[in-house]
Amino acid sequence: MNTELIHKIKTSFLEAFKVEPLMIFSPGRINIIGEHTDYNDGFVFPAAVNKGIVAAIQKNHSDTSVVYAADKDEQISVSLSGLKPAAEGSWANYVFGVVAELQNRSKTIGNFNMVFGGDIPGGAGMSSSAALENSVVFGLNELFNLDLSKQDMILISQKAEHNYVGVKCGIMDQYASMFGIENHALLLDCRTVKSTPFKVDFKDHQLVLINTNVKHSLSDSAYNDRRSVCESIASMLNVKALRDATEYDLESIRDKVTPENYQKALYVIQENKRVVEASKAMKQSDLNALGELLYASHEGLQKQYKVSCDELDFLVDQSKLNDYVLGARMMGGGFGGCTINLIEKSAVASFTTSVSKDYMNKFNKECSIYSVELSNGTGIIN
Ligand code: GLA
Repeated sequence: MNTELIHKIKTSFLEAFKVEPLMIFSPGRINIIGEHTDYNDGFVFPAAVNKGIVAAIQKNHSDTSVVYAADKDEQISVSLSGLKPAAEGSWANYVFGVVAELQNRSKTIGNFNMVFGGDIPGGAGMSSSAALENSVVFGLNELFNLDLSKQDMILISQKAEHNYVGVKCGIMDQYASMFGIENHALLLDCRTVKSTPFKVDFKDHQLVLINTNVKHSLSDSAYNDRRSVCESIASMLNVKALRDATEYDLESIRDKVTPENYQKALYVIQENKRVVEASKAMKQSDLNALGELLYASHEGLQKQYKVSCDELDFLVDQSKLNDYVLGARMMGGGFGGCTINLIEKSAVASFTTSVSKDYMNKFNKECSIYSVELSNGTGIIN
């Protein structure tokens, strides 16, 4: 955990509010494989990481709640009665969206003060938003004795994202952030919302993230569009979700859908199978097989599901030129953010140095390299 960040957030809270806060760490996540399968009731393979959101929170006895976003140096005071979504893109929606969902469930929340900050940049595809939502719901549950289970909390965080942020996300991010286990990835079945932990030890290989440092606009609407295409094809196939469909089923309605939408549904069906195959490869420590699945996932995201972008494709193409990288793909919703790379440890420094140089030459922009540790989920910092 980032002790400097914890110190900064706590100090800032103490200076502003003069009382001891409850300190919470809520992690971001990586995802080994299984992209855009969660809202199709499918499988995903995420893990919480040692980067995320640190929040300091405490009750107050006034008639407004005050939240300070330390990284943006922005403070918002609101009355909790009659909450409404803030402008699109505002961080306030992640915080007060959670409060509104608690109110919808008739939970009584008093006013509170909060300071938060993080060490994953927004738009990195590492779910700083789910981390923030989870920190709020977890903190309020503690302060106001709401008696929520972790399972309740992630559904509340997800609903905040749907109704306040306007992104009809699946459950992967909130789940991974809340339920993460140190040194493990979670093979999550998004229908039952239950996971199997897999110890991650790649021996002389490791995962490295490369952030494109771009986030192309319209990604939220493109996300919601993809989801509705999947839902409409599932309903044409008379199944609850694409998780229940086979390639053979899809073939039977091929002439009733556009070629583009056919490819999108095909991608989801194939990606879902890749997650299951990846879990077998992990069990057998077959890193070459895992790497191939990562490349195949990227190819599908790029050419069939069409959620990649030039910067991500460039980074994946560069990794293919390096024999020490076993696999790479874009990670998260897409249109920017990070690639995840499975690479031999001894080659990390030389690969990341050369790819950074090439990226700069090509896009006149820096990329950022992160190596992360797999961590426990949302919890109190003692
Ligand atoms: C975003 C969403 C998740 C998931 C991924 C794509 O991170 O929040 O629910 O759909 O995109 O896999």
